[in-house]
Amino acid sequence: MKILVTGAEGFIGSHLVERLIEKKIFVKALIRYNFKNDWGWLDDMKLVKNKYLEIISGDINDYKLIENISKDCSHIINLAALISIPYSYDAPVSNFYTNFNGVLNLLEIVKSDRKKVLIHTSTSEVFGSAVYTPMDEKHPLQAQSPYAASKIAADQACMSYFHSYNVPIIILRPFNTYGPRQSNRAVIPTIINQILNKNKQLKIGSVFPTRDFTFVEDTVEAFICALNNKNIYGEQFNLGISKDFSILETIKLISKLMNYELKLRPEKIRKRPLKSEVNKLLSNNKKALKILKWKPKFTGSKGFQRGLIKTIKWFEENKNINNSKEIYTK
Ligand SMILES: NC(=O)c1ccc[n+]([C@@H]2O[C@H](COP(=O)([O-])OP(=O)(O)OC[C@H]3O[C@@H](n4cnc5c(N)ncnc54)[C@H](O)[C@@H]3O)[C@@H](O)[C@H]2O)c1
Repeated sequence: MKILVTGAEGFIGSHLVERLIEKKIFVKALIRYNFKNDWGWLDDMKLVKNKYLEIISGDINDYKLIENISKDCSHIINLAALISIPYSYDAPVSNFYTNFNGVLNLLEIVKSDRKKVLIHTSTSEVFGSAVYTPMDEKHPLQAQSPYAASKIAADQACMSYFHSYNVPIIILRPFNTYGPRQSNRAVIPTIINQILNKNKQLKIGSVFPTRDFTFVEDTVEAFICALNNKNIYGEQFNLGISKDFSILETIKLISKLMNYELKLRPEKIRKRPLKSEVNKLLSNNKKALKILKWKPKFTGSKGFQRGLIKTIKWFEENKNINNSKEIYTK
C-alpha cells in the first residue's frame, strides 16, 4: 500500500504520517512548496530519513504534479487546507482556492484514474452553531465563516462526484482536534503557551462557546480505520468524542494542570463577529464507532485531562520550537 498524504507537514498530517510509517505503509508526503524548503513538522530528521517516506513539494492545485505523484498510490488522504477562521475573514478567495478548488482537482484525478480512493478531511465547522445536539452526519450545514463555506463546498463536491461518477470517496469530519504540534492559532495551544510564557493574565476571546475536543491520536486512528474499510465509499463520519467543554471550562482545567492562578483578559480582537461565532459543537459519533469501527481512547472528562497532560508536556519540552508568536489577524 502506498498513500499520498497532502498537508503532511501540518499538525494532523504529521501525526498521521508518523502512524502510517509505524505501520510500515509507504507514504508520499506532499509538502506545500515554500522558499525556505521548510518541511514543517516532518523536518524532524527521524522522519526524514525513513525508508517508508518520500517527500514532495507542491500544491494540491497542480493537476499534473498530483496526477504524477499519485500514480502508484491506492489512496489520497487530503489534509491540505487553509484552516484559520480569522484568516478566512481576511483572505476568503485563497481559502476557496485551496479548500475547494484544490479538492476539485483531487476529485478530477481520482475520477480519471478509477483505481484510487480519496479520503477527504472535512470539519465540524461545516455545521455552524448546533441546531440540535449531539450533531450527527445529517445535521444542517451552515456556513458561518468563509472557511466553513469553503469546506462545505469541498464536501459537497466529493458527494457529487460519488453520486454522479461513482468516484470512491470517504469524508472524515474531525471535531476540534488538539495535541502536540498544534499551532498557536487554536485555543488550547494559545492558553498553554501564554501560561508557559508567564503571562500574568490570559488574553482570550469568547469563553462561552463549547467544543468537542478530540485528541490527535484518536483523530489519526480514524484515518487508519478508513483505510482498512472498503465498503464505506460515499459515507461521511463525524469524529468527536461526544462530550463538549466550554472554553472557560477548558481554560480552568489547563490552569489547574499547570498550577496557574487564573486571571482572564478578554480581548475583542480575539472574538469572532457575532453571527460568525459557532456557539456549540458536540458530535454524535455513533456512525464512526459502528461502521468505521473507530475506538477513541481519550474520551470523557478523564480522557480530556489525559490528552491535555500529554499536550502540555509536549509544549513544555518544545518551548523553543513552537512559536510563542501570537497568531491573530483580527
Ligand atoms: N485541527 C483541527 O482542529 C481540525 C478540525 C477539523 C478539521 N480539520 C481539518 O484537518 C485538516 C488538517 O488540519 P491541521 O489542523 O493539521 O492544519 P494545518 O494548518 O496544521 O495543516 C494544513 C496543511 O495544509 C498545507 N497546505 C495549505 N495549503 C496547501 C496547498 N494549496 N497545497 C498543499 N498543501 C497545502 C499546509 O502547509 C499545512 O501543512 C484540514 O483539512 C482541516 O480543515 C482540522
